[in-house]
Amino acid sequence: MKNMKNKRRDFLKKVCPSVALAFFGVTMLEACSSGGEEEGSSSNGGGSNDSKGYTVSGSTVVIDLNHSTFNTLNSSGWMNFTAQNMLLLKIDSSTYRAFTNSCPHQGVRNAWSYNTSEDKFKCSSHGNSYPSDCTTAGTAGGALKCFTASYASNKLTVTTS
Ligand code: FES
Repeated sequence: MKNMKNKRRDFLKKVCPSVALAFFGVTMLEACSSGGEEEGSSSNGGGSNDSKGYTVSGSTVVIDLNHSTFNTLNSSGWMNFTAQNMLLLKIDSSTYRAFTNSCPHQGVRNAWSYNTSEDKFKCSSHGNSYPSDCTTAGTAGGALKCFTASYASNKLTVTTS
């Protein structure tokens, strides 16, 4: 498989960009400038969606907190990061938490709000709320599942497994 990708890459290096664009379209053009690591295998978290402010490598998501995608997190202190099915919570400038956005009650992902004074997420689907401490059960009985989150140099690394 890797050998096939190397052959494709070698071919693209020889003919890029105009010929490849003519034959294969825009998606193949992206491969011309790579020359580096393949999607999902980068040691620096490189992979898909870098232009959207985050990269995914296996179960690890690296988030660029300076990217406009995460303006809501910076301004309101939390956001539902639906592209990766996670809730993000800013505790302070270098401390964040990440959770699944699947409600422990019935799995609804898109009905969340956050109450700062109570430090709880609330799912408006059936009105259950969940503390953000990763352990205390919410009103539906289960705790909101936490992911491992670590901060360094304006990057938030979240491991979902
Ligand atoms: S699915 Fe969230 S409260 Fe029921």
